[in-house]
Amino acid sequence: MEPWIAPSILAADFTRLGAEIDEVLSAGADIIHFDVMDNHYVPNLSIGPLVLESIRKSPNNRANCPVDVHLMVKPADRLIGDFLAAGATFVSVHPECTEHLHRTLHLIREGGAKPGIVFNPATPLTLLADVIKLVDLVLIMSVNPGFGGQSFIESSIQKLQTARRLIDQSGRPIRLEVDGGINPDNIARVAAAGADTFVAGSAIFASHDYAATIGEMREALEDTANTSLDST
Ligand code: DX5
Ligand code: ZN
Repeated sequence: MEPWIAPSILAADFTRLGAEIDEVLSAGADIIHFDVMDNHYVPNLSIGPLVLESIRKSPNNRANCPVDVHLMVKPADRLIGDFLAAGATFVSVHPECTEHLHRTLHLIREGGAKPGIVFNPATPLTLLADVIKLVDLVLIMSVNPGFGGQSFIESSIQKLQTARRLIDQSGRPIRLEVDGGINPDNIARVAAAGADTFVAGSAIFASHDYAATIGEMREALEDTANTSLDST
């Protein structure tokens, strides 16, 4: 699958969110990562469906861009309908946030979005086998959810490798996303472990030149692709 760079708008300047989204899209972002936090499942509060609705009503290309909604809210089901109505492309849930994961994933699919499942650093991948046919995205958290700007947790590499193997065995076109502490220096390593979708908040929005940072990430990914070809 083509690698996707997914800037997390959690690190954007919220006073000019629309312009920030336009800028990362022009700088080469493939999809916008939209972190939803509730001060209950995670100890932080961020943005909700009204913000996505506003993005969709904008008079420019941000209105149609793919949006990857990462729900960190418990219970998740109540809000899913609002995000579907607001035009989410992907909606991903943590299994801890719903009593009936199977039903929640169906709810997302039936509402016209692509379902995703999210694994925290301490959440085992064991339940993936039971729902792998229902998801279009597997998100491996490489930090504990709740805040941007944290350091990458090393054990995520092994988890990505295991998830990659399970996805390949399923034969389904599932994206493998990694979220937390990703930057131009470590993106090649997570790609080599099997990730194809890369969330980056502070690495992109705290940089002076979004296009240059995204460009550096793409270069690192190309090097990885060449390295793995060389080594076969
Ligand atoms: C953390 C969020 C991440 C966060 C990533 O709970 O899910 O998407 O914004 O930010 P960085 O890239 O700064 O770690
Ligand atoms: Zn996220």
